[in-house]
Order: sequence, then structure tokens, then C-alpha cells
Amino acid sequence: MRKKLVAGNWKMNLLDEEVINYIVNFNSRKNEIESDAEIIILPASIYLDTMISMPDWDIKIGAQNCSQFNNGAYTGEISAAMLRDFDYDSENLHYCLVGHSERRAYFKESNEVLAQKVNRLIENQLKPIFCCGEELEHRKKEKHFDLVKSQISEGLFHLKEEEIKQVVIAYEPVWAIGTGETATSNQAQEMHAFIRTILAEQFNQDVADSISILYGGSCNSTNAKELFEQPDIDGGLIGGASLEVESFIQIINAF
Ligand code: PGA
Repeated sequence: MRKKLVAGNWKMNLLDEEVINYIVNFNSRKNEIESDAEIIILPASIYLDTMISMPDWDIKIGAQNCSQFNNGAYTGEISAAMLRDFDYDSENLHYCLVGHSERRAYFKESNEVLAQKVNRLIENQLKPIFCCGEELEHRKKEKHFDLVKSQISEGLFHLKEEEIKQVVIAYEPVWAIGTGETATSNQAQEMHAFIRTILAEQFNQDVADSISILYGGSCNSTNAKELFEQPDIDGGLIGGASLEVESFIQIINAF
């Protein structure tokens, strides 16, 4: 049985007071959650501590990024070991995004760098949520499968079997992120099934069947149910719609 996950990627949004209000509001509505999906929130790193320290907050937490280096003179960076150190008994902080398309585009992160980030996270017992996804021009030229295959093979195929099983994959077509335009459930399912096939070819069927693959890109309370019903879609990576408790709970309950 694969794990179902709904992860809220807050990106560079919400200040301390808003983070606290969100948690208090979410906690007061916990009884409305009818789904057994694991719920994850990925705040800006500076608020990880706030979230970990909140009482009654049992939602899993993740970071949005980490350095590819262990330590040293890398001004402004946060290492995977530092993330682990935040929550040394691994109670809350379990995940870290790797290779979100915004980081690939604005911070020029290559598949090679992302493979190193994946390694640092696994060495520090954190689970990478590895993002992949094509731009519209790739899809128009029917190059979207090739592109996603190269992102996954260059970013993840160096891992050993027990390591790849720690990874969550998020398929996020770049043309659907923050645009209000979602992949149809067929388009998303087709790509998720393709990703599972290449995992089976590289590793084995057991690995392919055990890895959760999330869909991301304008997923909201209206389209989540149809997406989550697809056999190879194991949850969502939610940006804009995770910033409001109301819509995030509706998406969680779409499972
Ligand atoms: P969106 O973002 O839901 O706002 O499209 C998803 C993401 O970038 O992870």
C-alpha cells in the first residue's frame, strides 16, 4: 500500500503571526478531517521552529530547500544536517522539497545539483520530495516524457533500492503552477504511470509500486477529487490553495 500524502507548499508566504494563526485555526478544525492521508506543510525555513514548537501540532513538516553541501563557506544556505538538527528526534520534520520548478528556473538548479541535495537529505534521514515536470513548449513538441525521464534519471537513478524508497516524487507541469490551468486527470495519470514504469525499469516493480507520486499545479478543492481518484496519483503538492485553512482541508478531504 502506497502512502497518500497532501503537502502544502507555502513558498515565500505568511509571516510569523499568520503562521501561528494558521496553526491555531487548523488545529481547531482537525475534527473536520475525514481523510487518512498524511498531511505535510512546507513553510519558509525561518518558521520551521515556530511550527515544530506549536503545541498539539501533529502535522508533518518539511523544508522547501537545502544546500547540496555538507557545511562550509556557503553564505545564506541551510544544510540538511541543520534541518535534521532542528528536530533531532524526528518527531515532526520529515521532508524537504528538491528541485521545485521555481528553483530550477530562478536559481538555475541542475539535475546534478539536485542529485547531491537528494544525497544530503537521505544521509540525514530526511525524505526528499523530488519535483519534476515539463514546460508547455516541451508538451507542445511532445517532448514531455523525455524531459521528465531525464529529470528523474539524472536526479534519482544513482540511488540504491533502500534509498529510492525514501523519496516522494511530485509531478508538477510548469505550465500548471500558479496559473489556474490544471493538467487534466488523464494527462496527469498518463505521466504518473510513465514515471512508475521508468522506476520499475531502473529498479524493480516493488520499488515502483511503493513510491508515492504527487500531482502539483493549480490543484484546488474543485479538481482534487478527480485527480486523486486516478490509480497512480497518490496525493498532491498544493501551492496557493494551501495558504487558506478552508481550501487546504477541502483538498485533504478530497481523498
Ligand atoms: P500551485 O503551486 O498549487 O499554486 O499551482 C504548486 C506548487 O508549486 O507546488
